[in-house]
Amino acid sequence: MLNIAVLVSGGGTNLQAIIDGIANGSITNTKIRCVISNNPKAYALERARQHNIEGICISPADFKTREKFNEALLAKLLDLKVDLIVLAGCLVVIPPAIVQAFSGKIINIHPALIPSFCGTGFYGLKVHEEVLKRGVKVTGATVHFVDEGTDTGPIILQKAVEVLDDDTPQVLQRRVMEQAEWVIMPKAIDLIANGRLAVADGVVKIKK
Ligand code: GRF
Repeated sequence: MLNIAVLVSGGGTNLQAIIDGIANGSITNTKIRCVISNNPKAYALERARQHNIEGICISPADFKTREKFNEALLAKLLDLKVDLIVLAGCLVVIPPAIVQAFSGKIINIHPALIPSFCGTGFYGLKVHEEVLKRGVKVTGATVHFVDEGTDTGPIILQKAVEVLDDDTPQVLQRRVMEQAEWVIMPKAIDLIANGRLAVADGVVKIKK
């Protein structure tokens, strides 16, 4: 059984897709051990509560320094003994100490086709604003392993989504979530839970 911690900051629709995937059997062998939010008001925490999943807030605002916050987050993750950390709309930059402690065991969803529209500053609506500004006709989402860079780790799954002429950043964000994020995040977790991924030289291959 793969025990996962889901780290969130906001609405938690990706968390919901994971909860639904476990409930409907499209994600097997997986248990959500805990949902951790940096934001006490995140609706994701309410979703956890509704499904009897432990939900906690660890906020930088409650610590004197960023280092103390990072230490508390690491301590909690170690204490939970999770096999995988899933960043699902998590706006906290994961510090190197956590990346090292959970090497190859952290995944993130990015709302664009990496290596486009990613890296420092590309988060939330900003990504979709830049996509529209550049006029690309296809965007999408990427699930990737987290390394010490920003959006640089091995790519697990990607799914393309069409950009339409009259899209606003909000409309495009919603389409990317519905058509790509909520599909590939559950799928990536299921692949990991069933030992189907192999990573060599920074490239992920899916075993049959
Ligand atoms: C998603 O677009 C995710 O890719 C991005 O933030 C959004 C989170 O949405 N990083 P939600 O909290 O899962 O609803």
